[in-house]
Amino acid sequence: ILHFLPARSVLVLKLISVAIDGPVGAGKSTIARTAAERLNYIYCDTGALYRAVGLYCHRNGVDMNDPSAIAGNINADIRLVDGVQRIFLNGEDVSDEIRLPEISMAASAVSAVPAVRSALLGLQREIAEKNSVIMDGRDIGTVVLPNADVKIFLTAKPEIRAKRRYGELIAKGKDVTFEEVLNDLNQRDYNDSHRAAAPLRQAADAVLADTSELDFGQSVDLVCGLIKERL
Ligand code: DC
Repeated sequence: ILHFLPARSVLVLKLISVAIDGPVGAGKSTIARTAAERLNYIYCDTGALYRAVGLYCHRNGVDMNDPSAIAGNINADIRLVDGVQRIFLNGEDVSDEIRLPEISMAASAVSAVPAVRSALLGLQREIAEKNSVIMDGRDIGTVVLPNADVKIFLTAKPEIRAKRRYGELIAKGKDVTFEEVLNDLNQRDYNDSHRAAAPLRQAADAVLADTSELDFGQSVDLVCGLIKERL
C-alpha cells in the first residue's frame, strides 16, 4: 500500500527529535525554544521536571538524598497550554516558582537520585514519541533519546555563562553578586557532571556548539543551521 502513496505522505509521518544538552546557563532553553518555534517543533525543557521535584523537596523539607521519601509522592507533568510548556506538580501549575534560584540547587541534588531519573524517563520519551521535538537537558543525547536525529552539545565559557545569568537575575530585580552566580553555576556543573546516574556529558555523536563569541540571534541561527544540515 505504501508503494501507492505519494512520497510526501510517508515523510509527514516521520517525527524528528533533536537533543540539546549542555551545562548551566549555556542558553539551552531560550535558544532551543526559539529554534523550535522557527522549525515548528514542540519544545521540551526537561530541567523543569527536575526543578518541580526539587521544589517539592524544598517545600516539604524532604532530605533530597533519600529517594524513599520522594518516591510515590510526586507527580510531575509537562502540559502544553496555548502552545507554551507549563509544569505541573501534583496538579498545581508551578512553572514560575521552579525558576527561583534556590530551586536550581535543589533540582541538581534530586537529579542525582536514580529513582527520580527513572520516574521521569518515560514521560520524556513519550513526548518525543508523539511529537517532533527539540528537547533540552543534561542526558537527552546520551540516555533519554539515544537515537535522536540530531544531537547538539551547547556550551560557552563559564564566565560568559555566569555573566548572562547574572544579567537575567539583576533584570528580574534579584539581589545577587556576580561571584555568587559564578560559584553556583560551577557547583551545579560539577554536581551534574560527576553524579553516577546519567551525568552531564557530550554524546559521542553530538556536535559541539560553543556560543561564547555569539549573541542570541547568532546562537539560534547556529542551532537551526546544524539541525537542517543533519536532517
Ligand atoms: O536545565 P536546568 O538548569 O533547568 O536544570 C535543573 C537541574 O536539573 C540541573 O542542575 C540538572 C538537572 N537536570 C538533569 O539532571 N537532567 C536533565 N535532562 C535536565 C536537568
